[in-house]
Amino acid sequence: MSSIVEKTAVGQAIDRVEGHLKVTGKAKYASEFPVPNKVYAQGINSTIAKGEIVSIDTSEAEKQEGVLKVITHQNAEKLKTFEEEPAAISTDSIAPVLQDHKVHYYGQYIGVVIAETFEQAQYAARLVKVEYRKEASPAIIFEKNKDKAYRPKESSDYSRGDLEKGLSEADEIIDAVYNTPIEHHHPMELHALIASWENGGVTAYASQQMVEDATIAISETFQIPQEKVRVIAAFVGGGFGSKLKVERQVILATMASKMIGRPVQMTVTRHQMFTNTGMRQRNEQHMRIGAKKDGTLTALAHETLSHTSINEEFQESCGMVSKMLYKVPNNLVTHRLMPMNLQTPFAMRAPGEATGSFALECAMDEMAWKLKMDPIDFRIKNDTQTDLSEDQPFSSRLLVECLRIGAEKFGWEKRNMKPRTNKEGNWLKGYGVSAASRNSPYKETHSKVILKQHKDLVEATIKMDATDIGTGSYTIIAQTAAEYLKIPVEQVSVELGDSDFPVTPGSGGSWGAASYCNGARAACEKALQELKKKLNIPEAEEVPVAELLQKNNLMEYEAEGSAKPSEEFEKHSVYSFGANFCEVWVDKDTGMWRINRMVNVGSAGRILNPKTAYGQIIGGLTMGAGMALAEQTRVEPNFGNFITRSFADYHVPVNLDLAQIDVIFLPEEDKIANKMGIKGIGELGITSVAASIGNAIFNATGKRMRDLPITPEKLITAPLEPGVQA
Ligand code: MOS
Repeated sequence: MSSIVEKTAVGQAIDRVEGHLKVTGKAKYASEFPVPNKVYAQGINSTIAKGEIVSIDTSEAEKQEGVLKVITHQNAEKLKTFEEEPAAISTDSIAPVLQDHKVHYYGQYIGVVIAETFEQAQYAARLVKVEYRKEASPAIIFEKNKDKAYRPKESSDYSRGDLEKGLSEADEIIDAVYNTPIEHHHPMELHALIASWENGGVTAYASQQMVEDATIAISETFQIPQEKVRVIAAFVGGGFGSKLKVERQVILATMASKMIGRPVQMTVTRHQMFTNTGMRQRNEQHMRIGAKKDGTLTALAHETLSHTSINEEFQESCGMVSKMLYKVPNNLVTHRLMPMNLQTPFAMRAPGEATGSFALECAMDEMAWKLKMDPIDFRIKNDTQTDLSEDQPFSSRLLVECLRIGAEKFGWEKRNMKPRTNKEGNWLKGYGVSAASRNSPYKETHSKVILKQHKDLVEATIKMDATDIGTGSYTIIAQTAAEYLKIPVEQVSVELGDSDFPVTPGSGGSWGAASYCNGARAACEKALQELKKKLNIPEAEEVPVAELLQKNNLMEYEAEGSAKPSEEFEKHSVYSFGANFCEVWVDKDTGMWRINRMVNVGSAGRILNPKTAYGQIIGGLTMGAGMALAEQTRVEPNFGNFITRSFADYHVPVNLDLAQIDVIFLPEEDKIANKMGIKGIGELGITSVAASIGNAIFNATGKRMRDLPITPEKLITAPLEPGVQA
């Protein structure tokens, strides 16, 4: 399935084609469009977690200079609401807001102020007086709501074989619970949009990952035809999942524009990014693993408990990874949710794998230690080329190669299996490893190519509604067009992020690169094909595109193409794989840690641009390090507000926290995945990073840290694992 990539336009480490636009400030992000006559909206957030609004007094706010309107549930437009609650939500779900007087979580929007300036709107928002009837016991403490856990409507439960039998056949069993806290995405660009309502429809300059789904969500919420909604998301400053679906501010600004008849800009504050733009919920993952003395797995159970909101249902399927990663005959995966008075969680980078692989890959390390086996050998022993959960082969799977090559690069042979043996002064040093896998979807994508002749040069423009969320979409699409049209990259321009352009699945779930590039490829191939056909030139014959236009007497030519998954694709499980290695030092007295180095090896199909691909992986590793060691959103247990509400108290890693990072891509082309051999890498980088760090910390200290983040205070008070010598 794999072959070495040849040297072409695709595969070169070129600079970002839109780089100069970004560094000169010409790339327009949502709130930067100079829409004339625009005004500003500021959302008002509830200050209770559960209850009802008894009254809202907006009179003082309305008197202020520049204030145009205050919208609350008393005067809001009627929108489509959920038919039943909790509603299972997705990337194109409706987002009703201000439709009644009920409050389900702290920070919920209860109103919005529209004013001529941003400052006027902010000031007036503080003058709105709200009287609540507060319910005494909101559901905000995870541990106290376990009796309400239910099986979600769209259940992801799974089993094969007989788990109890598998456990009874085992020589050793690991039975452990792993906790991951609430985390927030926090892209650099705040959620923002400018909505302009005109002629019964809206143009929204929005910071969204998925343009088509945003048009669906807006049109459904307002009950207008989809053609009446135009979404423009030309540049998006990061998303990480928080911009997959439309959040309430998109609807609020649109509603405000409709009500006052002027364009409305709404940019949320960093504080509101905690309460109004989704989050990763807390997960409690119960792992049970059984293995024979020789390392053969006999049983694997992965059971997750998390929370959702009162009126919407979202589940992160943490156990997915435990269905497919190893050859284990007896397998059980369950997922339960508790409705809680917190905002609805949603997908955050590698939903399922990021958290699930922390539990699985730590538990695998615990088992390897119990079996006195090298954790790499243990994983290799249980490798499989068949996805047992789907009973079909992987399109390609180079996990063993990732582990072996990584081990060599990292110097794994120097590791001592016994914890607390590698020391230097006060530092305890540890080595950790983990395996990574991430589903690599590929979705139907449409694209247009416009060819223009300038003297004897041909310039091409590619258009599609794809987004570039900082990942490099513009660049890899330009490289693809250059490759298939056989023209230099400099002669290609790419226009993205407009719902008037051909439909793509948008950026999410690591399907962007494969889908966008194959869509662009199809359009270019179509153009060449049609131009040859007009001249009766056989399809296989190579003719320069300039010559084709000239011979056809055409100055300009336009074609549309589309690509979608093949039958072969459907008959295989398509995943990217990887291995993470890290060296962590822990101060034996203070518990302070540092990551000394990381090695990541990825097998992710054809690498379109090593520079942008590298950016994705180091971003993922950094986010994984944050997840392991620092990131957590804390809930105040009485009021239900988040007490971490800025970067001063929600800690993310900085350069100094990540010393040396080596990223290696194995040369690979997966032709079953798609014609161009591409697989996803956007989420592979974060996957299982936290486990490799946790495992390194065990190797350093002899302490099993099963609750993230692994803060120094937790580390210093944690007990030594039984059998470890101090
Ligand atoms: Mo991703 S969590 O699908 O942006």
